[in-house]
Amino acid sequence: MQIKSFEEYKNTYEHSVREPEQFWAGIAENFTWKKKWDKVLEWNFKTPEIKWFLNAKFNITENCIDRHLPAKANDVAFYFEENEDGKPNKAITFQNLHDEVCKLANVLKNFGVNKGDRVCIYLPMVPEAVYSLLACARIGAVHSVVFGGFSAQALQDRINDSSCKVVLTSDGAFRGSKKIPMKATVDEALSACPTIKKVLVLKHTLEKVNMVAVRDHDWETETVTQPPVCEATSMDSEDPLFILYTSGSTGKPKGVVHTCGGYMVFTCYSFLNVFQYQPGQVYWCTADVGWVTGHSYITYGPLLAGATSVLFEGVPNYPDSGRFWKIVDKLKVNVFYTAPTAIRALEAAGLDFVKPYDLSSLKVLGSVGEPINEEAWQWYHKNIGKEKCPIVDTWWQTETGGILISPLANITSTKPGYATLPLPGIQPILVDDKGKEITGNGVEGNLCIKFPWPSIIRTTYGDHERCRQTYFTTYPGLYFTGDGCKRDEDGYYRITGRVDDVINVSGHRIGTAEVESAINECTAVVESAVVGYPHDIKGQGIYAFCIVPKTTKTHEEIRQEILNSVNKIIGPIAKPDKIQIVSGLPKTRSGKIMRRILRKVAEGEIHNLGDISTLLDPLVVEEIVKGKI
Ligand code: PRX
Repeated sequence: MQIKSFEEYKNTYEHSVREPEQFWAGIAENFTWKKKWDKVLEWNFKTPEIKWFLNAKFNITENCIDRHLPAKANDVAFYFEENEDGKPNKAITFQNLHDEVCKLANVLKNFGVNKGDRVCIYLPMVPEAVYSLLACARIGAVHSVVFGGFSAQALQDRINDSSCKVVLTSDGAFRGSKKIPMKATVDEALSACPTIKKVLVLKHTLEKVNMVAVRDHDWETETVTQPPVCEATSMDSEDPLFILYTSGSTGKPKGVVHTCGGYMVFTCYSFLNVFQYQPGQVYWCTADVGWVTGHSYITYGPLLAGATSVLFEGVPNYPDSGRFWKIVDKLKVNVFYTAPTAIRALEAAGLDFVKPYDLSSLKVLGSVGEPINEEAWQWYHKNIGKEKCPIVDTWWQTETGGILISPLANITSTKPGYATLPLPGIQPILVDDKGKEITGNGVEGNLCIKFPWPSIIRTTYGDHERCRQTYFTTYPGLYFTGDGCKRDEDGYYRITGRVDDVINVSGHRIGTAEVESAINECTAVVESAVVGYPHDIKGQGIYAFCIVPKTTKTHEEIRQEILNSVNKIIGPIAKPDKIQIVSGLPKTRSGKIMRRILRKVAEGEIHNLGDISTLLDPLVVEEIVKGKI
């Protein structure tokens, strides 16, 4: 499955476009199927309906675990590095992983979880999080992981949207020097989640928690008595594997649905090719399992490839900003995959945190989640990679399931800020605002993909029409990514950022509409508009313009109210960095907020606001510019 040279990449790419079905069937031959497919692909981007490896039967966990056992039962699948520095490492072998996953799968079965049922996972970055995903997959339950930083309200919405039956959680999570409650948040969420029948609670921070009789169970007590075997449920290729909620331009987050077969084939193929992982190497992706990167490139991709990975519970700057590099040195990490926001934060902390550590084991560096600015790229290249490690700048999305545009390590020559070239099977095109294809090189447009790949989104849970509207109607016949993109003279792709109302804060996707609706819940605020602005560390920060009628409250009191409301409804990740109180918003005569103007103000481009003559009240702009923070 692994491409070995640029020449081979070009030939493989050409083959994958000319004969996609034959190409992907060849890749799919590398997996263990109980029954092979009758047909490789059926697709229609209009409805949309996309099916890969039709009627094939298998179980992804047998491919992640069981099939490696004869040769690697005692090889390490994960090194677990705890939040607290200096704790002895826990090494989890493939056999251990098998046993733990089976035990947990048996608990889920005892809880009445059947194939197709949804299970919510709300856990910190502990091995049990990975076991949870796999235990669901083992019995055909659909996992819905909710990032631990989301609030009770956000958790409740997600549980109810997909009618989950069970929640897997822990007493709390460590975040640097702090302990964050998780069970208490689950309790609050469950005050209005009628479909939840059972909650399994891991003892982790050892904080005292409230256990509800009949509903809540202790993790250790339940799992310890289970046999370490559990037959893997036979799944159809197009049975759902998981739901993962993500933000878009409008409305509430939607549940992106991925199915078993195509997702398995693509995550493994992309993992092996992008990182050029070699047997025996140690791979470390610093993402959280709550995001898609944690699904595809901590859990499924590496395990399918039989890789040895690092699982890290902590944060980059605790106990100090050398933590990442200390772990790289200690575990002799060969492939390191992180987000630009972490690189920028560690760059700002200074080289004194890098110098003490031997980073000579590193062979490949990766970046994901947001555009990487040239300065951060160079710092990473020079100080971490010592100018000998390629940086794979991997572009993809929750909806794409896996990496679509990226260099292949040591094969594709890199350029700072460029995701470079599409993986085999990926057919990107740039279109103008009318949907006309922009051909040639040295051009810029909206990034679309014109042919399905195995791990493309299948639907948005419970609302297929929303999936169609969001991704397949803007440019009929194409999957629209929501990203702007340049294609340079060499045909290399550079993602320039979202062209819709989505903000990317520290690599986390946040919809402006969601933040606005949380702000508008404050009694003091009558209306708000939220935009992104460039932020040195986070990539983008959140700037909120809020209309507050005359009040006796101070600005600081209102600001706190707004922050509390966002914290409560979404979670701390969506808290605005800047809040400006205004008496009006720039609106057209038809009442539409002109965000273009607000974006410019937030970016500090106050002398170049463009045409404001169509505004209902141009004076509002003057006031907003004067009050800029
Ligand atoms: O705007 C792009 C940005 O992150 C968005 C996808 O976010 P999410 O679904 O949360 O998945 C993040 C992890 C894959 C994209 O639409 N993005 C992701 N990777 C890159 C990127 N922007 C530029 N360069 C990247 N390498």
